Formats: sequence, structure tokens, C-alpha cells
Amino acid sequence: MKKLLVGIILFLTTFSTACAVTSATTTTSTTDTTTSSETTQTTTQTTTSNTTTTNTTTTSFLTDTAPVNYEGSYCDELVVDYDYIDNLLASLTLEEKVGQMMQAEKNGVSNNDVTNYNLGSILSGGGSAPSTNDAYNWYLMYKGFQDAARNSSSEIPIIYGLDAVHGNNNVYRATMFPHNIGLGAANDPDLMERIGLITAREIRVTGMNYTFAPMIGVVQDISWGRTYESLSESADLVAGLTGAYIDGLQNYCIGASAKHFVADGGTDGGHDQGNAIMTEEEVRAIHLVPYYDAIEAGVYTIMISYSSINGEKMHASEYWIQDVLKDEMGFDGFVISDYEAIHQLPGDYYAQLVSSINAGVDMLMEPWSWKDAITNIIAAVGAGDISMNRIDDAVRRILIIKYKMGLFSEDFYDESTQTYYRLSYSEGFSTDENKAVAREAVRESLVLLKNENNALPLSKDQDVAVIGEGAVNIGIQCGGWTIGWQGDDNRSLTPGTTILAGMREAVSGTNGTVVQDIYEADTVVVVLSENPYAEYYGDNDTLTLTGPTATSTNADVLEQVLYAKSEGKKVVALILAGRPLILGQYEQFFDAIVMAWLPGTEAGHGIADVLYGDYDFTGKLPVTWPKNSTGIGMNINSVNYNPDVVLYPFGTGLSYKEENPWT
Ligand code: BGC
Repeated sequence: MKKLLVGIILFLTTFSTACAVTSATTTTSTTDTTTSSETTQTTTQTTTSNTTTTNTTTTSFLTDTAPVNYEGSYCDELVVDYDYIDNLLASLTLEEKVGQMMQAEKNGVSNNDVTNYNLGSILSGGGSAPSTNDAYNWYLMYKGFQDAARNSSSEIPIIYGLDAVHGNNNVYRATMFPHNIGLGAANDPDLMERIGLITAREIRVTGMNYTFAPMIGVVQDISWGRTYESLSESADLVAGLTGAYIDGLQNYCIGASAKHFVADGGTDGGHDQGNAIMTEEEVRAIHLVPYYDAIEAGVYTIMISYSSINGEKMHASEYWIQDVLKDEMGFDGFVISDYEAIHQLPGDYYAQLVSSINAGVDMLMEPWSWKDAITNIIAAVGAGDISMNRIDDAVRRILIIKYKMGLFSEDFYDESTQTYYRLSYSEGFSTDENKAVAREAVRESLVLLKNENNALPLSKDQDVAVIGEGAVNIGIQCGGWTIGWQGDDNRSLTPGTTILAGMREAVSGTNGTVVQDIYEADTVVVVLSENPYAEYYGDNDTLTLTGPTATSTNADVLEQVLYAKSEGKKVVALILAGRPLILGQYEQFFDAIVMAWLPGTEAGHGIADVLYGDYDFTGKLPVTWPKNSTGIGMNINSVNYNPDVVLYPFGTGLSYKEENPWT
């Protein structure tokens, strides 16, 4: 009942605010009514009556780096005992071995199944949370499965995997970092390593040990719904950040999965799961590049892409998986299939299993069909369609990674307390220390694209209006892969600081105010956003400010832009989106333009830090920004690169200090 009431109140709040911006002549509410005990949206305009003034300087910027105390973990110093692995492998039956090759979804498997089938791994697909979504209940759920695995005939612990792709983002109250595209704009390996480490610690609070990250696809066409999961269109930029992030995760015992091998970012027209039409040289020159860095960093696992290269599905490509990735590049971790991806291969299920395993897939993410998979694989070994050597190779790889994750270490399970190794909540989860790094990441990810008429930095003595649903909506600022697979434009999706709240906090104790009514201010920050989406749901080849993935209130916000300009106000556009949007005729009405990507839970503080000039802009565009729809798909690798259809080239990023240090 309580949940229902909260839902109704939220609906009414959302509805009333949506109405409040329907016309340029409507007076909007000046109070952020979304405040809840879970959020930090508690600062109100009462702060404006204070008389203390804090001057903003544009010449002396703060440059501190949030520290992270790395205390190490129990599997830090582990050296694999290969005799142990070989003896263990030799002791397993075929059934036990094939069980180890399975990854089942937690809702598709019981604890008894885990015991009876010796399952190797469990996953939570996007949003597959325990019924009470908090870190402790994630641990209890994990513990149930882990106990079951240790009661199996092989007694081999499971690996539990989930998509912690911008922090441990399935878990309520986790620290959520900017999505990868923003981290590409920041392009700071040291920051990447700290983010990896914090994400690992927040996973460790749940006891779990495996994340399907980093995504190291090199996006070539921003129509792709997964553009924001990619760090950049530049292979070198992606490669330069890959190793640092993997180090951060794996130094803390959390297995990484570099994905999606290979050329997921190169599909024709940016279609998710589509076909990359290109020569082998192009695959190697662009898409394969970051995998060398991932392997160099010792990545434990690599996930195969749903997509194809010249019509050949990657999950069946013995050439790319066995010959190139394993034999030529020397990858010695295990290869995992993507979620039910083998179902897209030709033939029946038996044929799909045979072709993917023979191509070199070691673990099968078969959330719902794992039982069928076990039966078919055992039959295929019996029929000689899959060799025993291939099975042994796959299982040996899986066991080695389990060893590296510390699952065979004596510190893994404490008999006296019957607990699995985990960090306590206060040590690892959503701590101030973690949030400080996320705030720093937000600051570094911001890209200043235009700044005329001294629109920025804002002064803490002035009255500023902030409009647009994205300014008050945690769900929008976090994007997809947040609590649920697709994310949700829910203002209370998870605790965090909204842009409005962060800006109000910044002017607290000064003469300035932050209001939501454009009549009360000379400068208006207009937040234009995309609504959350994930994977193919986000494919969009128009990318207009009012197109299919845009937030529905954008149209009203744009009307208010025209009104504000007609009144001689300065307009700062703040864009919250997973990729560049086509600004069209509106570009001329913006005095300043800031790209904020999908900045996560600490957006409000990080954005206010830079808009008010306490910190300078340092971010640079990791992707080309098209001028019009013809320019979508144009990037630094395009043979027909045409500057006329590009609004802002790759690498653009102004700062307060210099006009444009990049050009
Ligand atoms: C995505 C992967 C993800 C997996 C598990 C798939 O749909 O392509 O990136 O890791 O689901 O959630």
C-alpha cells in the first residue's frame, strides 16, 4: 500500500511539472517537489536570503583529485596453482564439466538446480534484482546460490555476473558514474582505474565477483543505441582507457569482461546486433585494437558480440574467436557468449551449441535454456560433434579464472561465521569517498562546445533559472542500465543529486538564487535530454531534439528558449544525452552549450562545480558531432569525412582559460 501511495504522489508530481513547462508564458513552480528522504534534493530557495557572498573566480580553478584508499583484497597476491587446476579438472565427470560451462539467469534456476547440475555461473540480467533491492539482499541471494554450489558433487563455487557498467548500477543507492561516453570525454586513465576500483568495491559489498564490463566497442555511427556504452569513435582513445579500468576491477578480485568481440560498434547504419560490412584490415585497424590492451591487462573474460562481420555471426566464427583472439592474440581467459545470442545462429539448438562451442565459446550465457544446453552438449560429445579436448579446454579456462578470482582460496569462505568474503556496507558502498570520485568524473566529462557573451561561468551572485525535466530527474541523468535494463525516467529511481539541487547547494550562502521560473532570472540553463534506453531500444537515425529518444518536455523547453532570447536573456544549453543530438536552428539561440552525457547520481554537484567556475572544463568530444542528419555516421575514420556536415569535430572542447586550446 505504501508503495502504491508513493507511486501516486510521484505520478502527480511528474504530471504537474510536465504541465508547468507547456508554454513559455506559463509560470513554473520554483520548488523542487521531488524531495524525498532518499534524495539530496533538500536545498530550497530559502538559502537565497543569506547575505554571505562567495566570489567565483575564473582564474583560479580547483584541481583536486578525489583519493581512494586501496586496501587490497584477499585474492590480490594469488598465483595460480596449475597442478591444482589439472587435478580438479581430471576429477570431474562430463556432466560436471558441462555444468561448469553454463551461466543461468537467477530467475531461471533454483538453488537445487545449482547443486544438482554443478552450474558454473549465475547472472542477473539488467534489473534482475532480489525482491528487496539493497546491497545486503543481493548478498543473501548470492549466498544462497554459492552455498548450493559448494554442496554440489564437484564443490566448485559459482561465478556471479551482472552488468555493473557505470558503478554497481543494478543495486539501489549504488554510486553511479557517468556512462562510458562521458568517461571517453574525460580521457583520464587514472580516473578510470579509480572508477574500476570503486565499482569493484561496491560489487564486493554484495559478495559477487564478475561484471560484464568494460564495453570496449568503438562506436562508428551514433545512431547506435549503445553509443553511450562506448568510450569513443577513436580506437586509440578506447584502448588508452581499457587497461586502467580492468586493472581497477581485477585488482580488487572482480572479474572483468571486455565486450563485445568484435566490431559491435561498426555495424552498418549503427544497427544494434547488425552486420559490420568491412575488410579484415578495417576490423583490425579499429575494432580489434582495444582488445590488445584488455589482454595485456590480463582481462579474465571476453564476451562475444551478437553482431556479424560481412554476414558471419561472431558467435560462430572460429576464425575470430579461436584463431585470432585465442591463438594469435594469446587470450587465455574464458570466452562467454552474450545473452541467448547463440539462438541467432543457423540451425536447431543442437547445431547452435555445436557451432558456438567449436568456434571457441567456453561459457554459455543461456539464461533460460541451460538445461537443454547441457543435454545437447553431452549428446554432441557422445556423437563426436564436439571433442572432449574442446570441453576440457573450456572448463580449464573457467577453473583458472575461478582460481584467480579467489574462489579456491581459504579466505573465500569463513566457516566460523558462515559468510563469504565481502566488504561491509560502510567500507564499500555509496560512501562519501566513492561519491567524491563520481563527482570528479562528472566534472571531467563535461564538454564546453560554445561560450559567447560571457554566459559561463555563472556567478554565485546572480539569479539563474534552470528548466527541463532532466534538471530534476535522477533517472534521466543516469540513463539506461540503471536499476533496470532500460533505466527509467523516474525522479526517485535511486538516490542522487539532481542538477537543480546541486546548483542550489552551490549558491547556498551567497546572494545568488537558482529558480525554475525563467521570468525571475537573466540567465536560463535549459536542460535538453534523451530519455533512458538500452541496446536496440535506443537505435535512432534522426537524433533530433524532439525525436523518438528525446524527453517529451524538450519541445516545451525549446519554446521557452525562444521566449528567453526574445527577452534578451542568456541561454545556456545543458545536454543530457547518450550521444550528440542534432541542434539544428536552435544552436544559434544558445549562448553557451555544455554536453553533460549521462552523468550518473553525482551529476548535480559535478555540474555545478564547473558551471559556477570552481573548476574549469577539461572534457573533449570523444565522438564527432554532426550538423544535420546527413552527418550522422561521419567520424574520424570515415573515408568520405566531410567537415560541412560536422558541427563540432572530434576533440572539440573549450575551457574558461583559453578560447579553444584544442584547435
Ligand atoms: C547485452 C550484454 C549484457 C548481457 C547481460 C545483453 O543483452 O548485449 O552487453 O552484458 O545482455 O545482461
